[in-house]
Amino acid sequence: MEEVLFAITESHLDTGLRGYPCGHCVTSHVDPKRGLLYAGREVHSLAYDRPEDVIHLLFFGEGDHEGKTWETTLRSQASISAKTVQAIESLPRDGHPMKLFSAALLLLGMIEGVGDYRQDCLQVIAKIPHLVATVINFHAGWGKTPSLVSGGGYMSNFMELLQLPHGKSASLKKVLEIFNILHYDHGGGNLSAFVGKAVASGLEDMYGSLSAAMCALAGPRHGKANQDSLEMLQQFVSQMGSCPSEKTLEDVVRKRLQEGKLIFGFGHAVLRVEDPRASLLYEYAEEHYPKHPLVQMALLLRKVVPKILQENPKVSCPYPNVDAISGAVLIAAGFDYPLYLPLLFGMARCVGISIQIVYERMEARDGKGTPIVRPKYLYRRRG
Ligand code: MLT
Repeated sequence: MEEVLFAITESHLDTGLRGYPCGHCVTSHVDPKRGLLYAGREVHSLAYDRPEDVIHLLFFGEGDHEGKTWETTLRSQASISAKTVQAIESLPRDGHPMKLFSAALLLLGMIEGVGDYRQDCLQVIAKIPHLVATVINFHAGWGKTPSLVSGGGYMSNFMELLQLPHGKSASLKKVLEIFNILHYDHGGGNLSAFVGKAVASGLEDMYGSLSAAMCALAGPRHGKANQDSLEMLQQFVSQMGSCPSEKTLEDVVRKRLQEGKLIFGFGHAVLRVEDPRASLLYEYAEEHYPKHPLVQMALLLRKVVPKILQENPKVSCPYPNVDAISGAVLIAAGFDYPLYLPLLFGMARCVGISIQIVYERMEARDGKGTPIVRPKYLYRRRG
């Protein structure tokens, strides 16, 4: 007899598949109490490693597969072609830059895709810093993206290519690396991973699948939450200054909730503790930017909001998630561009999603791959 993993009742319908086991995820998983683990290792133990090494862990799991050639593989494929750059720069700049990012992934596939999930996965991982830097530079009007000359480390390449108008602080590279590592993956069932794998299950190629995944990530309930959370922090600081009394902040938060507005950056579908990705960034912020107004406001919200949300028995997770603090740390480090925060999230998340797609298409079910996603919906008559 097979073990029953999840018994479905009527009350589970129309709940966004919350908690349904759908398959296996070989890269990472999210434990409600321990948070995110990459290949079984808690993410905060990896946050200060080199991005290349963490990507290696996600791609191969534990073990020394291709350890020595891995970096050469990534470096040798790090540039996108001049034709891809030109194609991106011929698109309109209207609307949110996540749309341009999704379009850029399709263009990359049209121009440079090879039609093999594993090779395309490697290509995407290697090229995504160049692709995203090109999208941001173009969308922001920061000028042409230079060709990649130094062939340095993963995030150094990104820093080198990004044409930030106010220069780049030394600490920004470290913060970008940590942010990048913390956002590679978040289990198999987060919306963008699920969508990317679902689209790939119809045998769409890697780039179309990732483009769809990035459309899923673009919504405010998922990847755009970091931008929204940061803008809420900025609004609070301009309304109350960076250090209002707890009582003043509490009143503002309560009023906002009464008006039916969200407190961005709090709560999570799976976690039942403070998101360890957030804990790590709070610690980093307290150590490096304790006087920054947005950091001070984020730390105060960390104290005040959970107590208020806990009063509502329907709230299953009143604690901060990574979006509650990631934007404040990036701004404090010199990346003062809220509009592009979802792209930094998406750039990192393409790593995990593309590896998950390789597993589902080429390794699952003894190499046969998973079938096309086709869940059952029950007919309901309206009216
Ligand atoms: C994520 O990192 O993808 C978010 O925390 C959302 C999720 O896990 O569902």
